Amino acid sequence: MNRDTNILEVRGLGVEYYVGGGLLRAVDGVSFDVKKGGALAIVGESGSGKTTIASALMGLIMSWEGRIREGSAVFGADDGEIIEIIGGGAHELGRLRGREISLIPQDTAAALDPLMRIYPQIAEAATADNVGKKEKSRRREARRATDDAVREKVMAAARKARFPSDALDAYPHQLSGGQKQRSAIAAALVNSPSLIIADEPTSGLDAAVAREILSTLKELKSSRRLSIIMITHDIRAAAEMCDDAVIMYAGRVCERAPLKSIIHAPKHPYSVGLMNAILSVSKITDGVKPVEGSPPVAGSFKTRGCRFAERCAFKMEICEKSDPPLLKTSAGYAACFLFQCGGETKK
Ligand SMILES: Nc1ncnc2c1ncn2[C@@H]1O[C@H](COP(=O)(O)OP(=O)(O)OP(=O)(O)O)[C@@H](O)[C@H]1O
Ligand code: SF4
Ligand SMILES: [Mg+2]
Repeated sequence: MNRDTNILEVRGLGVEYYVGGGLLRAVDGVSFDVKKGGALAIVGESGSGKTTIASALMGLIMSWEGRIREGSAVFGADDGEIIEIIGGGAHELGRLRGREISLIPQDTAAALDPLMRIYPQIAEAATADNVGKKEKSRRREARRATDDAVREKVMAAARKARFPSDALDAYPHQLSGGQKQRSAIAAALVNSPSLIIADEPTSGLDAAVAREILSTLKELKSSRRLSIIMITHDIRAAAEMCDDAVIMYAGRVCERAPLKSIIHAPKHPYSVGLMNAILSVSKITDGVKPVEGSPPVAGSFKTRGCRFAERCAFKMEICEKSDPPLLKTSAGYAACFLFQCGGETKK
């Protein structure tokens, strides 16, 4: 691991779910780095495997629903220790989860317990060293968590997340969508993690509230040495705060590069179409239409050849026969045979 620059390195991650007596490969050969103090965007259409990556990194793929088939992930702690969170023992991840690495889940409203006030829910996250304990016993402890140290942590996290302290005694149904999101940010911040995974932090919020949430995340990133993985459909939201991006297609990484270069000069034909569709920047993708057709759904991913081939205007014979590896481009990497000889997508 490059411990000077990176906080997280993921290599060859493959995850599958047990579905209908078979295996559904949701994520395949995914590799990326998160820089210390940096923000990485994971962008892709619905079903491309974004949440699955987050769940795998947080150890949240339950044994009855699926498994990490292959790959590794290593985390570089502040004190220089390198900890395997995938590929090592589950206990290694248990040490970090909720403390060094936390998650703002995709559906924060559903993640909140409707019968519990917000304060004990954040306090529960503050006592995350109880990871090994049974849920009921953690809940009981969190309800009793009124001691000064925990209160101090909860209040500090609420302040950082800009969650109003007088709403800490509210039940989830009494909060607006933006406040629910802020309570999830507070819960993620309560143990001062070094890495936060924010899964669609602005989805379902109106534009003004989404902007406020983004600005809070940006503030957090700049005010302390916090690294962020931001999972999103919305590349414009990602552009507000992310330095690097991974573009996912059908469970695989199709492009990995600095976000600015993906926006202004996308390389992979899918990224080109995506930028064209999202940003309508016809001048940088002149002659290439927005991506036509739909992505394949997990379970029907091709086992051989490029998964984007059916929709690709540049398809060659080799594209149906072999999986394109991630190849070097002028800005980063693209999983596309067009770059085999250092070529670029023709615009
Ligand atoms: N627990 C599960 N059991 C079975 N299949 C699952 C499970 N969770 C996800 N999947 C499937 O894995 C694939 C990837 O899902 P995932 O939630 O990771 O996608 P996503 O990119 O986060 O999508 P979205 O943008 O809609 O949140 C999908 O086909 C989904 O149906
Ligand atoms: S590998 Fe072939 S089919 Fe896939 S994106 Fe590149 S050119 Fe298109
Ligand atoms: Mg998701």
